Amino acid sequence: MKPVNVGICGLGTVGGGTLNVLTRNKIDIDAKAGRQITITHVGARQLNPDCDTSSLKVSTDVFDVANDPDVDIVVELIGGTTVAKELVLKAIENGKHVVTANKALIAEFGNEIFAAAVKNNVTVSYEAAVAGGIPIIRSLREGLVANRIEWLAGIINGTGNFILTEMRDKGRAFDDVLKEAQALGYAEADPTFDVEGIDAAHKLVILASIAFGMPLQFNKIFTEGITKIAPEDVAYADELGYRIKHLGITRRSPNKGIELRVHPTLIPSSCLIANVDGVMNAVLVKGDAVGPTLYYGAGAGAEPTASAVISDIVHVSRIVGDNSSEVDYNTNVPHLGFAHDHLCEYDIVPIEEVETASYLRISALDRPGVLSKITQILSDAGISIEALIQKEPAEGQNHVPVILLTNQALEKSVMSAIVKIEQLESVTDKVVRIRVESLK
Ligand code: HSE
Repeated sequence: MKPVNVGICGLGTVGGGTLNVLTRNKIDIDAKAGRQITITHVGARQLNPDCDTSSLKVSTDVFDVANDPDVDIVVELIGGTTVAKELVLKAIENGKHVVTANKALIAEFGNEIFAAAVKNNVTVSYEAAVAGGIPIIRSLREGLVANRIEWLAGIINGTGNFILTEMRDKGRAFDDVLKEAQALGYAEADPTFDVEGIDAAHKLVILASIAFGMPLQFNKIFTEGITKIAPEDVAYADELGYRIKHLGITRRSPNKGIELRVHPTLIPSSCLIANVDGVMNAVLVKGDAVGPTLYYGAGAGAEPTASAVISDIVHVSRIVGDNSSEVDYNTNVPHLGFAHDHLCEYDIVPIEEVETASYLRISALDRPGVLSKITQILSDAGISIEALIQKEPAEGQNHVPVILLTNQALEKSVMSAIVKIEQLESVTDKVVRIRVESLK
């Protein structure tokens, strides 16, 4: 078979990693693909000092790659959703297959991009968009194809996980750890995407669409970041036998639709996923036939992400014949795992209607009867208490932290109970509330 020619757009962390791994492992990769995979053209405003591009055609305009008649696969690694979207649509219009690591692009514009790909009979692959090197998209789409997925929960932002792990293990300050994550190349160009949960939301929207067979619905996801997690909450969680992880959770909720939410979550320390630390990612998927399965690996970084990008390049190279137009890519590779005409517009459950257990930290004056007022409010709302810690006031202080773990209750009931608790004269501060999941 004739070689497959690859054009790489963007030579930053992931682009550089892709070029280097493809070059280093070329003999094996070609043998696995059954044909030569050759990088022929690189589009980058700036060269990467870690990459040897001396034998390659290099353009500063990435559109030269999308318009190059010799390129079969355009690999979009420039990031962002403006030029990247234009580039991907141009490549598709020119009849080229696309590989991208761009989660924001797929989560926000995937429906439009996939429709263009179907129209032009090309495929768009995006394994690297979610959880870096973990082959979670292919696992959901191929390995778990027999299953009706019930729910999945993932640590899908390495930067956030790195920050929470360092805060717990070393008592380090949030900002200090974030700076280190940026220096290590884990964080997004705009790190608020990591710490406010937007990056995880992009990834969860993609996973949910593949798990349940629905169009991408980024505008419906509930997102809460980790910026308000205080060191004392990390410590109290530990004392109660839990870890705080920033999770993306999606599940079928009977008679309501699909839950789609990203937020800090207390999970039992005994869960495997609670012990996924540092920049590592993990996704726990519950299928009706297989039961729970866990996927673990590096969620960011040059070569782990390149590993996923190259898996897509090989995947496309295997299905592209010498005469591309003879293959029906829409049937061969449905972009979201379900055939395009079998996607279903499920309702996304509003967060107020979601049921979870809760961790509450309440600052109260050290006076008789305070606790009974708090528990009365919870009991009136039908919320029962599973565990309670009350500490003595610190030296020179007259308020005490009261830590409660409640049973499962509707979000709206919890929120209205919190409003009432905050109105108590003896409650001195905003109540800290973190959702709790057993992941069973
Ligand atoms: N900023 C992302 C993370 C990179 O920290 O997980 C990979 O998407």
